[in-house]
Amino acid sequence: MSVPVLTIDGPSGAGKGTVSRLIAKKLGWNYLDSGSIYRSLAIALLENNTDASDVDEILNIARIMELSFECNDELSVKLNGVDITSKLGMESTGNVASIIAAIPEVRQILFQKQKDFKNPPGLVADGRDMGTVVFPEAEIKVFLTASAAERASRRYKQLMEKGIDVNIQQITREIEERDCRDKARKTAPLAQADDAVFIDSSSMTIENVIDQVLSLVPQQYRAI
Ligand code: C5P
Repeated sequence: MSVPVLTIDGPSGAGKGTVSRLIAKKLGWNYLDSGSIYRSLAIALLENNTDASDVDEILNIARIMELSFECNDELSVKLNGVDITSKLGMESTGNVASIIAAIPEVRQILFQKQKDFKNPPGLVADGRDMGTVVFPEAEIKVFLTASAAERASRRYKQLMEKGIDVNIQQITREIEERDCRDKARKTAPLAQADDAVFIDSSSMTIENVIDQVLSLVPQQYRAI
Protein backbone atom coordinates (compact mmCIF):
# COMPACT_ATOMS: atom_id res chain seq x y z
CA MET A 1 0.00 0.00 0.00
CA SER A 2 1.46 3.36 -0.93
CA VAL A 3 1.70 5.86 1.91
CA PRO A 4 1.05 9.51 0.96
CA VAL A 5 3.75 11.99 2.00
CA LEU A 6 3.55 15.78 2.31
CA THR A 7 6.96 17.45 2.61
CA ILE A 8 7.49 20.97 3.92
CA ASP A 9 11.02 22.30 3.47
CA GLY A 10 12.41 25.76 4.05
CA PRO A 11 14.82 27.90 6.08
CA SER A 12 14.82 28.30 9.88
CA GLY A 13 11.89 30.15 11.41
CA ALA A 14 9.60 29.97 8.36
CA GLY A 15 6.90 28.31 10.49
CA LYS A 16 7.41 24.78 9.09
CA GLY A 17 7.20 23.09 12.50
CA THR A 18 3.92 24.64 13.65
CA VAL A 19 2.29 24.28 10.23
CA SER A 20 3.43 20.66 9.77
CA ARG A 21 2.37 19.57 13.24
CA LEU A 22 -1.10 21.09 12.90
CA ILE A 23 -1.61 19.67 9.41
CA ALA A 24 -0.52 16.20 10.55
CA LYS A 25 -3.05 16.46 13.38
CA LYS A 26 -5.84 17.58 11.02
CA LEU A 27 -5.15 14.76 8.58
CA GLY A 28 -4.46 12.16 11.30
CA TRP A 29 -1.05 11.48 9.70
CA ASN A 30 2.34 10.79 11.28
CA TYR A 31 4.70 13.71 11.75
CA LEU A 32 8.46 13.86 11.20
CA ASP A 33 10.37 16.90 12.46
CA SER A 34 13.65 15.94 10.78
CA GLY A 35 15.48 18.87 12.40
CA SER A 36 14.83 17.27 15.79
CA ILE A 37 16.89 14.24 14.70
CA TYR A 38 19.89 16.46 13.85
CA ARG A 39 19.26 18.41 17.07
CA SER A 40 19.14 15.20 19.14
CA LEU A 41 22.50 14.15 17.74
CA ALA A 42 23.84 17.62 18.59
CA ILE A 43 22.64 17.19 22.20
CA ALA A 44 24.25 13.74 22.39
CA LEU A 45 27.56 15.26 21.26
CA LEU A 46 27.35 18.24 23.61
CA GLU A 47 26.59 15.91 26.54
CA ASN A 48 29.49 13.69 25.59
CA ASN A 49 31.83 16.70 25.17
CA THR A 50 32.54 15.55 21.62
CA ASP A 51 34.17 18.15 19.44
CA ALA A 52 32.21 19.04 16.28
CA SER A 53 35.41 18.26 14.31
CA ASP A 54 35.78 14.69 15.68
CA VAL A 55 33.98 13.00 12.79
CA ASP A 56 34.69 9.37 13.81
CA GLU A 57 33.23 9.89 17.27
CA ILE A 58 30.24 11.79 15.83
CA LEU A 59 29.50 8.88 13.49
CA ASN A 60 29.80 6.36 16.36
CA ILE A 61 27.34 8.31 18.46
CA ALA A 62 24.96 8.79 15.50
CA ARG A 63 24.94 5.01 14.90
CA ILE A 64 24.20 3.96 18.48
CA MET A 65 21.89 6.71 19.72
CA GLU A 66 18.32 5.60 20.35
CA LEU A 67 15.56 8.12 19.79
CA SER A 68 11.89 7.95 20.60
CA PHE A 69 9.33 10.55 19.61
CA GLU A 70 5.90 11.40 20.90
CA CYS A 71 3.75 14.07 19.32
CA ASN A 72 0.66 15.29 21.12
CA ASP A 73 0.24 19.07 21.01
CA GLU A 74 4.00 19.45 21.15
CA LEU A 75 6.78 17.10 20.11
CA SER A 76 8.69 15.37 22.90
CA VAL A 77 11.87 13.41 22.33
CA LYS A 78 13.84 10.89 24.36
CA LEU A 79 17.51 10.23 23.70
CA ASN A 80 18.66 6.86 25.06
CA GLY A 81 15.60 6.87 27.34
CA VAL A 82 16.12 10.40 28.72
CA ASP A 83 13.72 13.25 27.92
CA ILE A 84 15.66 15.97 26.04
CA THR A 85 12.65 18.02 24.89
CA SER A 86 13.63 21.14 26.86
CA LYS A 87 17.07 21.24 25.20
CA LEU A 88 15.86 20.75 21.63
CA GLY A 89 14.90 24.35 20.91
CA MET A 90 18.07 25.97 22.25
CA GLU A 91 20.05 28.08 19.78
CA SER A 92 23.28 26.29 20.76
CA THR A 93 21.64 22.97 19.81
CA GLY A 94 20.49 24.36 16.43
CA ASN A 95 23.93 25.74 15.66
CA VAL A 96 25.75 22.46 16.41
CA ALA A 97 23.01 20.59 14.48
CA SER A 98 23.66 22.70 11.41
CA ILE A 99 27.44 22.15 11.62
CA ILE A 100 27.19 18.35 11.85
CA ALA A 101 24.38 18.25 9.26
CA ALA A 102 26.98 19.23 6.68
CA ILE A 103 28.86 15.91 7.17
CA PRO A 104 27.68 13.52 4.40
CA GLU A 105 28.15 10.34 6.52
CA VAL A 106 26.01 11.83 9.29
CA ARG A 107 23.22 12.44 6.76
CA GLN A 108 23.60 8.89 5.49
CA ILE A 109 23.22 7.40 9.00
CA LEU A 110 20.22 9.60 9.81
CA PHE A 111 18.56 8.90 6.44
CA GLN A 112 16.99 5.56 7.47
CA LYS A 113 15.81 6.95 10.82
CA GLN A 114 13.80 9.49 8.80
CA LYS A 115 12.49 6.96 6.26
CA ASP A 116 11.14 4.86 9.17
CA PHE A 117 8.50 7.53 9.83
CA LYS A 118 6.73 6.73 6.57
CA ASN A 119 3.82 4.67 7.88
CA PRO A 120 0.09 4.54 7.12
CA PRO A 121 -2.13 6.46 6.92
CA GLY A 122 0.35 9.17 5.78
CA LEU A 123 3.29 11.37 6.73
CA VAL A 124 3.94 15.09 7.02
CA ALA A 125 7.73 15.63 7.04
CA ASP A 126 9.44 18.96 7.64
CA GLY A 127 13.08 19.91 7.17
CA ARG A 128 15.54 21.05 4.53
CA ASP A 129 15.80 18.06 2.16
CA MET A 130 12.54 16.19 2.67
CA GLY A 131 11.25 16.80 -0.87
CA THR A 132 14.64 16.65 -2.58
CA VAL A 133 16.49 13.73 -0.92
CA VAL A 134 14.63 11.81 1.79
CA PHE A 135 11.16 11.58 0.21
CA PRO A 136 11.64 12.58 -3.46
CA GLU A 137 8.60 10.40 -4.23
CA ALA A 138 6.28 12.58 -2.06
CA GLU A 139 2.96 13.43 -3.71
CA ILE A 140 2.73 16.90 -2.20
CA LYS A 141 5.73 19.18 -1.70
CA VAL A 142 5.88 22.67 -0.25
CA PHE A 143 8.78 25.11 0.09
CA LEU A 144 7.85 27.46 2.91
CA THR A 145 9.81 30.62 3.50
CA ALA A 146 9.51 34.17 4.92
CA SER A 147 11.74 37.24 4.89
CA ALA A 148 14.84 37.02 7.11
CA ALA A 149 13.56 39.87 9.32
CA GLU A 150 10.20 38.17 9.83
CA ARG A 151 11.81 34.82 10.62
CA ALA A 152 14.15 36.42 13.17
CA SER A 153 11.28 38.26 14.82
CA ARG A 154 9.16 35.07 15.06
CA ARG A 155 12.07 33.17 16.54
CA TYR A 156 12.72 35.98 19.01
CA LYS A 157 9.08 35.93 20.21
CA GLN A 158 9.11 32.15 20.48
CA LEU A 159 12.23 32.16 22.67
CA MET A 160 10.98 35.04 24.84
CA GLU A 161 7.69 33.16 25.39
CA LYS A 162 9.72 30.21 26.61
CA GLY A 163 11.47 32.55 29.07
CA ILE A 164 14.79 32.42 27.16
CA ASP A 165 16.27 35.92 27.22
CA VAL A 166 17.82 36.68 23.82
CA ASN A 167 18.89 39.59 21.73
CA ILE A 168 17.22 40.16 18.35
CA GLN A 169 20.45 41.17 16.58
CA GLN A 170 22.11 37.98 17.73
CA ILE A 171 19.11 35.86 16.63
CA THR A 172 19.15 37.53 13.20
CA ARG A 173 22.88 36.88 12.82
CA GLU A 174 22.57 33.24 13.90
CA ILE A 175 19.61 32.57 11.58
CA GLU A 176 21.52 34.08 8.65
CA GLU A 177 24.66 32.05 9.45
CA ARG A 178 22.66 28.83 9.77
CA ASP A 179 20.75 29.42 6.50
CA CYS A 180 23.96 30.23 4.71
CA ARG A 181 25.57 26.99 5.95
CA ASP A 182 22.44 24.95 5.11
CA LYS A 183 22.29 26.35 1.55
CA ALA A 184 26.00 26.15 0.85
CA ARG A 185 26.76 22.59 1.93
CA LYS A 186 27.53 20.10 -0.80
CA THR A 187 25.30 17.25 0.43
CA ALA A 188 21.53 17.77 0.46
CA PRO A 189 21.61 21.58 0.70
CA LEU A 190 18.49 23.55 1.55
CA ALA A 191 16.80 23.89 -1.84
CA GLN A 192 13.33 23.96 -3.32
CA ALA A 193 12.41 20.72 -5.10
CA ASP A 194 11.44 21.30 -8.76
CA ASP A 195 7.95 20.00 -8.05
CA ALA A 196 7.41 21.94 -4.78
CA VAL A 197 4.87 24.74 -4.36
CA PHE A 198 6.52 27.94 -3.09
CA ILE A 199 4.80 29.76 -0.22
CA ASP A 200 6.10 33.02 1.28
CA SER A 201 4.49 33.29 4.72
CA SER A 202 5.92 36.76 5.57
CA SER A 203 2.52 38.42 5.68
CA MET A 204 0.35 35.36 6.26
CA THR A 205 -1.16 34.01 9.46
CA ILE A 206 -0.52 30.39 10.45
CA GLU A 207 -4.18 29.65 9.60
CA ASN A 208 -3.73 31.10 6.08
CA VAL A 209 -0.64 28.95 5.51
CA ILE A 210 -2.40 25.83 6.79
CA ASP A 211 -5.39 26.47 4.49
CA GLN A 212 -3.12 26.97 1.50
CA VAL A 213 -1.13 23.79 2.20
CA LEU A 214 -4.29 21.76 2.88
CA SER A 215 -5.74 22.91 -0.44
CA LEU A 216 -2.85 21.03 -2.10
CA VAL A 217 -3.79 17.75 -0.41
CA PRO A 218 -6.03 15.60 -2.63
CA GLN A 219 -9.63 15.48 -1.38
CA GLN A 220 -9.53 11.72 -0.78
CA TYR A 221 -7.07 12.25 2.12
CA ARG A 222 -8.98 15.14 3.61
CA ALA A 223 -12.33 13.43 3.93
CA ILE A 224 -12.20 12.90 7.67
O1 C5P B 1 14.72 22.64 11.47
P1 C5P B 1 15.70 22.84 12.59
O2 C5P B 1 16.02 24.26 12.87
O3 C5P B 1 15.28 22.10 13.82
O4 C5P B 1 17.04 22.14 12.08
C1 C5P B 1 18.26 22.28 12.76
C2 C5P B 1 19.38 22.10 11.76
O5 C5P B 1 19.39 20.73 11.32
C3 C5P B 1 19.24 22.93 10.49
O6 C5P B 1 19.84 24.20 10.60
C4 C5P B 1 19.93 22.07 9.45
O7 C5P B 1 21.31 22.32 9.40
C5 C5P B 1 19.76 20.65 9.95
N1 C5P B 1 18.74 19.96 9.18
C6 C5P B 1 19.12 19.40 7.98
N2 C5P B 1 18.24 18.69 7.25
C7 C5P B 1 16.98 18.53 7.67
C8 C5P B 1 16.55 19.13 8.88
C9 C5P B 1 17.46 19.86 9.60
O8 C5P B 1 20.25 19.55 7.56
N3 C5P B 1 16.14 17.81 6.94
